[in-house]
Amino acid sequence: MKNIVVLVSGGGTNLQALIDAQENGSIKNGRITCVISSKPDAYALERAKKHNIKTRVLARREYPDSVEYSRDILKALTEEKADLVVYAGFMTILDELVVKALPNKMMNVHPALIPSFCGKGYYGLRVHEEALKKGVKLTGATVHFVTEVCDGGPIILQKAVEVLDGDTPETLQKRVMEQAEWKILPQAVSLFCDDRLEVRNNCVYITAENAAGV
Ligand code: GAR
Repeated sequence: MKNIVVLVSGGGTNLQALIDAQENGSIKNGRITCVISSKPDAYALERAKKHNIKTRVLARREYPDSVEYSRDILKALTEEKADLVVYAGFMTILDELVVKALPNKMMNVHPALIPSFCGKGYYGLRVHEEALKKGVKLTGATVHFVTEVCDGGPIILQKAVEVLDGDTPETLQKRVMEQAEWKILPQAVSLFCDDRLEVRNNCVYITAENAAGV
């Protein structure tokens, strides 16, 4: 059973999708053992507590820089014996010292089809504002491994979502979450926990289920 640590900063609907997947048996070989928030007032913390999941707060604003913050995040991840770290609406860019310690063991959900609308400055509603400004007809979500390049790591799963006439950033965000993020994030976590993700040459290959259905 793998220990999953989820990093959050906000509302935590992606965390909720993971909790639901765990409770309905879709994630068989992993358990969310800890939720770490970069903000003390993140609603995601309440969601974790309701399901008796351990929470920790490492407030980004209490640290002078990213390196010191990242050192404490890594310390916490080590203490929690994390096998997998999931960024679920985690709005802080960590120093590469964390990624280097946990190569291909950290994944992020991004609310666009990478390589569109991604990288530094593209987060939350901003991503959908930019997609609407550009007038794309399709957007979606991506789950990828975290590397030192912001939103640049190997892509695990993607799902496309239609942009509709009259969409606002808020309506588009809601559709992308419902139709894509809340589906592909638990799927990617489940595949990881079943040891079905292989990374070669910066690409992810999903291996077949074994005879035990795993
Ligand atoms: C989600 O749409 C997630 O993809 C996005 O922030 C939202 C968090 O919602 N993450 C990023 O933009 C990271 N670059 P949640 O707190 O309800 O899961």
